[in-house]
Amino acid sequence: MDRIEQLGDVAEIMLDYVENKKTFQTDKPMPVPTRSYTDTDQWRAEMELVFKRVPLMLAFTAELPNPGDFKTMDAVGLPVLISRAKDGTVRAFLNVCAHRGAPVAEGKGNCARFTCKYHAWTYGQDGKLLAVSEAGTFGEVDKAARGLRELPCEERAGMIFACLTPNAPLDLDNHFRGFLEDFAALDFAGWSYLGSREIVGANWKIAFDGYLEGYHFASLHPETIAPRTPSNCTHYEGFGPNIRIGFPQRRISEALRPLPREQWGSQENNGYDFVRIFFPNVSIFIAPEITQIAQLFPGPTPDRNRTVLNYLRREAPRDDEDRANIEAMINFFRDVTYNEDYVIGLDIQKGLESGAHDDLVFGRNERGNQYFHEWLNWYLEDDPSLPEPVM
Ligand code: FES
Ligand SMILES: [Fe+2]
Repeated sequence: MDRIEQLGDVAEIMLDYVENKKTFQTDKPMPVPTRSYTDTDQWRAEMELVFKRVPLMLAFTAELPNPGDFKTMDAVGLPVLISRAKDGTVRAFLNVCAHRGAPVAEGKGNCARFTCKYHAWTYGQDGKLLAVSEAGTFGEVDKAARGLRELPCEERAGMIFACLTPNAPLDLDNHFRGFLEDFAALDFAGWSYLGSREIVGANWKIAFDGYLEGYHFASLHPETIAPRTPSNCTHYEGFGPNIRIGFPQRRISEALRPLPREQWGSQENNGYDFVRIFFPNVSIFIAPEITQIAQLFPGPTPDRNRTVLNYLRREAPRDDEDRANIEAMINFFRDVTYNEDYVIGLDIQKGLESGAHDDLVFGRNERGNQYFHEWLNWYLEDDPSLPEPVM
């Protein structure tokens, strides 16, 4: 079955959900221990066995479109440098000078080489050590052995993925199981990067759980989301540990019924929307006006996460007025995400640390959360012979 046919079947399921007041359900509720959100050992295990092992989406093609473009960032406490070389290849490095450990680049920009600001050693866009300043006084340096430490990195479907452990395998096909085809079909690599905002919230899983269900739309988002999208009416598909969440709109019947059935699968944002989840920490909401891509980074302590909200659009900003509208829209999305979802997350963190309950429970209708926690547990078991969760 091709992608559009498959999406047509999903659209039909979502139409049935709205017309008959149904939602995706699994066979039973799933308890999750409260300490999963508060315990320091669990948090460390998540860093080692998940965040330092799986491919993380760290940047967008549209963020570094030109040779020489670079971006530095903090990824779960690790300083990372992503750089596009002259030949167009993107690489990721630990942003740590081989002399005495200072960062070799800051912020974002474009440059032919990186000069460490401490003693001015210089590195190429490919991470090779090019020059030691005042080399005659320094003594012998094996330049080939003192380049930047490279991280496994691959650019695919408009995104730049890396693994935070040097020399670790980076198997995007096994991790995504065909999920990236959606982004290739959307021509995501040709989109325009509009900017980002940062917000701080509770434990990364408290925040992430909020992106995985629509059960809370009517009560938590009565003015912002619920007018477009009914509460507790959600479809889930798994692609390995990743999830495509289908949210039918209230108007799905009037959007789809007049169209021939074979067009139903090509109507994203007309009658239904998708949130695409990259395990473990990315949520992508595609909308025509603006697309929000949340990257959740755990830390610096178990009770906090830092979320980078990135904004992209198919068309580049047209003029100053369009640019101003985009800025307003970005701030609006950021404010809704923070005020409506992250503020309650901070209260939840306090609640969980109070000792009130030994566990929490995800309902039969909260399958996205169950699936995410099942996959998280699968990684934490660190035994690839265990059966993988299935949707
Ligand atoms: S730490 Fe980079 S040149 Fe000294
Ligand atoms: Fe929400």
